[in-house]
Amino acid sequence: MNTKTSVISQEALQQQFAFCQKIEAYWHDRGITPTAYVETYGCQQNEADSEQLRGLLSQAGYAIQGGAEGADVVIMNTCAIREHAEQRVFGNLGALTHTKRRHPGQKIFLCGCMAGQDHVVQRIKRSYPHVDGVFSTHHLWQFPELLHRVLTTGKRTYFVEDEAGSIAEGLPQLRGNTLKAWVSIMYGCNNFCTYCIVPYVRGRERSRQPEDILAECRKLIASGCKDITLLGQNVNSYGKDLGCGVDFADLLKAISEIEGEFLIRFMTSHPRDASKKLFDTMAASPKIAKQLHLPFQSGSSRVLKAMNRHYDRETYLEKVHYAKSVMPDLVLTSDVIVGFPGETEEEFEETLSLISQVHYDSLFTFIFSPRAGTPAASMDDPTPKEEKNRRFDKLCDLQNTISERIHHSYVGKTMRCLVDGVDKDMLTARTEGGRLVRFPGDHSLIGSYRLLTITGATTWSLTGIQAEKEG
Ligand code: SAH
Ligand code: SF4
Ligand code: F3S
Repeated sequence: MNTKTSVISQEALQQQFAFCQKIEAYWHDRGITPTAYVETYGCQQNEADSEQLRGLLSQAGYAIQGGAEGADVVIMNTCAIREHAEQRVFGNLGALTHTKRRHPGQKIFLCGCMAGQDHVVQRIKRSYPHVDGVFSTHHLWQFPELLHRVLTTGKRTYFVEDEAGSIAEGLPQLRGNTLKAWVSIMYGCNNFCTYCIVPYVRGRERSRQPEDILAECRKLIASGCKDITLLGQNVNSYGKDLGCGVDFADLLKAISEIEGEFLIRFMTSHPRDASKKLFDTMAASPKIAKQLHLPFQSGSSRVLKAMNRHYDRETYLEKVHYAKSVMPDLVLTSDVIVGFPGETEEEFEETLSLISQVHYDSLFTFIFSPRAGTPAASMDDPTPKEEKNRRFDKLCDLQNTISERIHHSYVGKTMRCLVDGVDKDMLTARTEGGRLVRFPGDHSLIGSYRLLTITGATTWSLTGIQAEKEG
């Protein structure tokens, strides 16, 4: 694997923008306004990448549409985290033979994390002849060149060479939402948790320069954005590769000092690197949301060691305890894997007891899925599938009870929420901790912060009414 990080030069980017112009001219000569559709799977990192792809497409003259039917370009931005995610992509990719039959000029591309795996690329080459191009995450910034080549030569094209990864500053971005924004602060991951494919498909950890991130945030806030989520696979190791003395807590603080009414949140935090300094920084600033996604993965120290997580149950609990002590209203969420190879019933029970102890607001729950090339895929795994499903259901039942209890404790409270949309005849809003509240009100409220009194709760969401003052 190549381990050198490269910063894409402005000259190289300008060349890509020149390809955008050539593509625009290609369509202009044919008197056509082309259309494109980008379908996103997986995490927010992919959502952010799709916004850049839409930005590049739009710079090349494409109108972005909401489905594959009739589109001149279709991009599937894929996720490789679990087998199920990959199967969905292959199924949907197969279905694109029909849209292409109805619109033979359609050019179909596959990118994202699946495109970083050689066996996937080989399978596409072999069995999906209607796919015109494949590019891995490292080559996203070269999409205009790839598209131009496919358009002008008609040949299937692959930009999938293994690279440690690059940082391309200044790519256009077509954001889906003016109120809320994703801002990637770093890319890749160095942790090599034994179950996880991400370090193999997204390369080594690399941080953007703090000035670039701050400039992007300032611009977003000036244009009316009220909620910024900083993204990285492990935001707590932000800056380690830069050597400029700025760590994640410093970056958060600097962003929180920008003038304006907004909230910053972030994901994901690796518990190993989550520091007291980070929690103190969060507690000190009213502009940093009191929300923390701190994946624990397992409640058993033995399993955590086998996962290569670099913390044990006790250290994790100490960190959570500290975070809650400085932020009593903290909304805490997490990821957990059930059925890691060799997980015993007792170890599973330790996961349940950790959940009962911590009281998460909600959990993202997963059954272990072996990923080709990761160490865990070749570990002995004697637990039958049915048993893993049983554990999974038991865990979900426990968490649902806890989520419901926590949600009910909101009833009667008045909270400042950002009104962000409409759901049927109600408005939707988010609490500072990111909980969904539905309430009756006029559409003109969208985009503003409102005080809402919570009147009802279910496992998943809250209902409320507008209040006069906080209480
Ligand atoms: N970087 C983030 C996680 C990104 S992946 C972090 O470390 O917290 C999101 C979640 O998917 C992980 O937290 C893990 O719970 C789950 N996951 C990753 N690989 C998996 C696998 N092979 N099987 C099941 N779940 C997995
Ligand atoms: Fe995967 Fe672990 Fe990196 Fe998260 S920290 S992306 S789980 S290797
Ligand atoms: Fe999936 Fe890649 Fe994200 S594997 S979870 S899209 S980093």
